[in-house]
Amino acid sequence: MRILAIGDITDPQSLEYIAERLWDIRAREKIDFVVVNAENASFITGASAEQLKRLIDSGADVVTGGNHTLQNKSAHAFLDDSDRALRPVNYPPTAPGSGYTVVDCNGYRALVINALGRVNMEPRLDCPFTAVERVLSREEGNFDFAILDFHADAVGEKLVMPHYFDGKISIIFGTHTHVQTADEQIFPKGTAYISDIGMCGHRNGIIGSSAECIIERTVGCMPARYEPADGEISADGVIFTLDSSFKATEIKRVKF
Ligand SMILES: [Fe+2]
Repeated sequence: MRILAIGDITDPQSLEYIAERLWDIRAREKIDFVVVNAENASFITGASAEQLKRLIDSGADVVTGGNHTLQNKSAHAFLDDSDRALRPVNYPPTAPGSGYTVVDCNGYRALVINALGRVNMEPRLDCPFTAVERVLSREEGNFDFAILDFHADAVGEKLVMPHYFDGKISIIFGTHTHVQTADEQIFPKGTAYISDIGMCGHRNGIIGSSAECIIERTVGCMPARYEPADGEISADGVIFTLDSSFKATEIKRVKF
């Protein structure tokens, strides 16, 4: 089984870029299941309901989110209704939407979980490790294999996940930094892991924003408005291969 994960979509143009190509990529790479992180599809303000629907209609089996997802109030009702779009699982239960879903993957039941880190991010949230553990025990017997998008900033926090859940979650990948890491590995009990899968966005800028506005904010310490980057768009991703017992056998970084 081949599963593709695409990194954070940084703006509406980049969403169209991957949406127009995703069915072709699925066919060419013989992909069985696709997870796309779209938390910046509206450019630092989450993704709208229309954008989430566009991705699902374009070949994404599940769309995951992150620290910006719930900022986009237009998506709240869609998140409540859809079993294909997630917000992080460690928000309070009063938050709109769900942090996990079980959907079909070629006759198998894929459990997809989205969790948010707390280091450098949102310390008020529930512990992501115990939140994921609760999902695994609540859904025990209801899924064949599990995938986790851990949307977090610190690699030291991200790496706890595969060490803690090796053999229990087939695929654990990180998102949020928009820079793909080269630390992909398969853990002893069969969990495939990479700290960050990268982004789908414009390359002429700083992780999806224009360099000018980030310089003004960072060097000039001025409250400059964020502007999207420009230049070529490309999409970073990772293809994971699982065997018939849902253990990872291969993990390959890709760019489209
Ligand atoms: Fe993020």
